[in-house]
Amino acid sequence: MTLKIACIGAGYVGGPTMAMIAHKCKDIEVTVLDINEERIAAWNSDRLPIYEPGLEEVVFACRGKTLFFSTECEKKVAEADVVFISVNTPTKTRGVGAGYAADMTYWEGAARMIAKVSHSPKIIVEKSTVPVKTAQAVERVLSNNVLNDGARFDILSNPEFLAEGTAIKDLENPDRVIIGGRQTPSGLKAIQTLKDVYAQWVPEEQILTSNLWSSELAKLAANAFLAQRISSINSISALCEKTGADVSEIAKCIGADSRIGPKFLNASVGFGGSCFQKDILNMVYICRGLGLQEIARYWESVVTINNLQKRRFVDIVISSLFNTVRGKKIAILGFAFKKDTGDTRETPAIDVCNGLLDEGANLAVYDPQVTEERMKTDLSLDKFEWDHPYTQRKAKEVDDHIECCDSVYKACEGAHAVCILTEWDEFKTLDLKKIYDSMVKPAFIFDGRNVVDGKHAKEVGFVFYGLGKPLDPFLTDPSSPCSP
Ligand code: UDX
Ligand code: ADP
Repeated sequence: MTLKIACIGAGYVGGPTMAMIAHKCKDIEVTVLDINEERIAAWNSDRLPIYEPGLEEVVFACRGKTLFFSTECEKKVAEADVVFISVNTPTKTRGVGAGYAADMTYWEGAARMIAKVSHSPKIIVEKSTVPVKTAQAVERVLSNNVLNDGARFDILSNPEFLAEGTAIKDLENPDRVIIGGRQTPSGLKAIQTLKDVYAQWVPEEQILTSNLWSSELAKLAANAFLAQRISSINSISALCEKTGADVSEIAKCIGADSRIGPKFLNASVGFGGSCFQKDILNMVYICRGLGLQEIARYWESVVTINNLQKRRFVDIVISSLFNTVRGKKIAILGFAFKKDTGDTRETPAIDVCNGLLDEGANLAVYDPQVTEERMKTDLSLDKFEWDHPYTQRKAKEVDDHIECCDSVYKACEGAHAVCILTEWDEFKTLDLKKIYDSMVKPAFIFDGRNVVDGKHAKEVGFVFYGLGKPLDPFLTDPSSPCSP
């Protein structure tokens, strides 16, 4: 083995990324570390802690050969040449910047640990998304805490662009890899070392190098642009419902412009996931701190539209069900923040379910990948609490009004309405007649992902709402002047 890599943090980013490096580079020993013993035990078991298509094959092929999972953080970091930091950077829930700024406690803890145990030169790589200028803070923590002779650090920023559900594909075939570093002789040498790792499977022209700050900001900017695109099409969906236009047709028309492109134009009940909202709020916080108030407001509006979209959906369900959902069974199909993942972080389902629970509804939830425990925990947590694994959580009582079902048909039986919140493929081929026959009439479908064939649903007898589609006359638009 020529190079030893350690990665602090065995989460959604650290686990798959390190598995791909170990899989592609037979001359590198990669150890993924975490303080969470349960998580490491799962990585070492047959049932990995995260669901990601293709991940098992990659992990099982190299685990125990070039890939290791361990809780011996200090020992493995001390032995490593390159240390990736991939710990969580939750949005602060209290103190200065609460609701916007990133909480850097885990980061600083990792940096101080590296300083304490290092006896040799190391390259430190920021992997998780961090606020701009984090590298500088890490450099300061490290350089002021070098305890041992021989320790010296070069800091690199190497943001991860993988999307969940396609992580393995994205890692195997990335659009680009970005490596930012100091433009000094030792910084450039560190950049080259990391470049050589990726060059074992990524074409050189796709490995972009830059200064540290560009690399850090590029990650926030990429997520902000992607989220902005969804809020843009979602804002158009609201306009479509009012005008009789169809958002899918609009997306097709505007996506045909090669400058706009067809991807990422699916209107939805809102974007979720661990990155978009967090990164935008973080950018808003940075802008405010730099006196860029207008720019902060511009980016914050992306989150405002996202929240509005979820609220709009809840409002149309309630107003269409004759302005009351109290005591009514409502089937929720899909809880994950998108298909092909079991991840529920910031999923729009949480806000939609909470909106309906607040009105006294009884929810029957079905998701092929999300466990009952996960759903109930999510619905009990306060905003941003999900990303603070080691803090005391409040628990709201949700048991009485949530039923978790192991099939779509069980969830829909006896329900007044069906809400589709995740675009799982299996929802495209539902037996609508069977569902309709088992429901209370009039039976409603509220399709927040446009996966159901609306024409067929109406033929079967449903009152059908498709997000951003012309409104069915039987639906009640909560904001219309004629609404009761
Ligand atoms: C995102 C970025 O894509 C990735 O590059 C970054 O590293 C992490 O954040 P991820 O959160 O895994 O990845 O999922 P993504 O596929 O981007 O979807 C985010 C959310 O947007 C999901 O809730 C998805 O349903 C929603 N979405 C996406 C839409 O509503 N419409 C679309 O057209 C695309
Ligand atoms: P991401 O989506 O960015 O990968 P996750 O929350 O899934 O984030 O994973 C981050 C992981 O980092 C968690 O499993 C957490 O236990 C771990 N972690 C946080 N701080 C430390 C630390 N100081 N040392 C080792 N692991 C840590």
